[in-house]
Amino acid sequence: MSAGGTPPDRIDLPQEELPRRWYNVTADLPDLPPYVHPETREPLGPEAFEPLFPRECVRQEFSRERFIDIPEELRGLYLRIGRPTPIYRARRLERYLRTPARIYYKREDLSPTGSHKLNTALAQAFYAAREGLEYLTTETGAGQWGSALSLATALNGIRALVFMVRISYDQKPYRKYVMKLYGAEVVPSPSDRTQAGRRFLEEDPEHPGSLGIAISEAIEAAVADDRAKYSLGSVLHHVLLHQTVIGEEARRQMELAGEDVDVLIGCVGGGSNFAGLTFPFIREILEGRASYRVIAAEPKACPSLTQGEYRYDFGDAAGTTPLIMMYTLGHDFVPPPIHAGGLRYHGAAPTVSLLKRKGVIEAAAYPQEEVFEAARIFAMTEGLIPAPETAHAVKAAVEEALRAKREGREEVILFNYSGHGLLDLQGYAQVLGL
Ligand SMILES: Cc1ncc(COP(=O)(O)O)c(C=O)c1O
Repeated sequence: MSAGGTPPDRIDLPQEELPRRWYNVTADLPDLPPYVHPETREPLGPEAFEPLFPRECVRQEFSRERFIDIPEELRGLYLRIGRPTPIYRARRLERYLRTPARIYYKREDLSPTGSHKLNTALAQAFYAAREGLEYLTTETGAGQWGSALSLATALNGIRALVFMVRISYDQKPYRKYVMKLYGAEVVPSPSDRTQAGRRFLEEDPEHPGSLGIAISEAIEAAVADDRAKYSLGSVLHHVLLHQTVIGEEARRQMELAGEDVDVLIGCVGGGSNFAGLTFPFIREILEGRASYRVIAAEPKACPSLTQGEYRYDFGDAAGTTPLIMMYTLGHDFVPPPIHAGGLRYHGAAPTVSLLKRKGVIEAAAYPQEEVFEAARIFAMTEGLIPAPETAHAVKAAVEEALRAKREGREEVILFNYSGHGLLDLQGYAQVLGL
């Protein structure tokens, strides 16, 4: 508890305390299985990734150093997009639930594109620009990741080429406009720009596209041009590493507030925002210094951590990537079209998967209607409309607060508020019948 006895409703971190390094959980997971070649099953080294990603990203992917410095110039960019982000206490939600628990959330929605995705987009674009690349290619579904990379490349003086799943390109135009306003080239996928795209268009000129196809196109476009590399928004170690700026800040903020956290929560698509908040706390668990409960929230419709198998599988739907040891529903699993597009991924990051396997973290899956209902209560009480992905974390926090109430325990719950839902109102309207 803070000096005055009452923890504050808003916990800020001074700019000078913006973290100087990211935490690399792979240093504390010596039994992390390697990426392997799909045919030979031999472990793959950095050389397999170098044609694809900026050199420094590959170095970080394979680094086992516990901490990796955040370059000063990049820290400047983090300050520009609003880091350190505040933590809010959900006091009105607590009252509504009549829970003795204290609920806190980290405001990753406050970035210019409205989610945590900029934390890694800025880092990847920064390294790409420093290495003399002219542009980055990527895929995007509904556009959260694409808009983050579009802004990040613009801020670093390079460009983005974004392959956007065609059905979203046509039906969810707002983030497409955001990307274009930041100067990105946005191509509906499948497109005639790549062999992979042309193949799918020949099959069906009206093909609605999928994330798997868009990944194949973005990779092909990057490999075909020396001036470009490819960028991924989740799953890989270096992407999760960049997100740990969230948890490094949060640990310090909770310390400043005098609060000892009991339960940590994040939603999981590929696992990057969950990892971002929780890995710096999980370090203390792995070192035997703390015993938090850590909960990964996922959709019932795409339950990779709760229902998937722990095995080697492809990272993309088309089966073009190295094999990754992870909880997976199978790379050919096609999740139902739920509104939390960012959680429609068949697997989960290998580090998050291993932590689940080891029992360090738990997972919970929720049906869409209950998730949107929790989001509605959050909007009414806290005044913020969460992204449908984020709403899964809100739901888990509500469930934990109600459990604490049943058990009469004054627990401290901290969840990652990964993004706002102001461009997702159509989903709210459909599910809640607005
Ligand atoms: C707001 C928001 N939260 C969460 C996610 C899930 O991704 P990840 O698990 O990598 O954080 C996404 C992905 O698009 C997102 O946009």
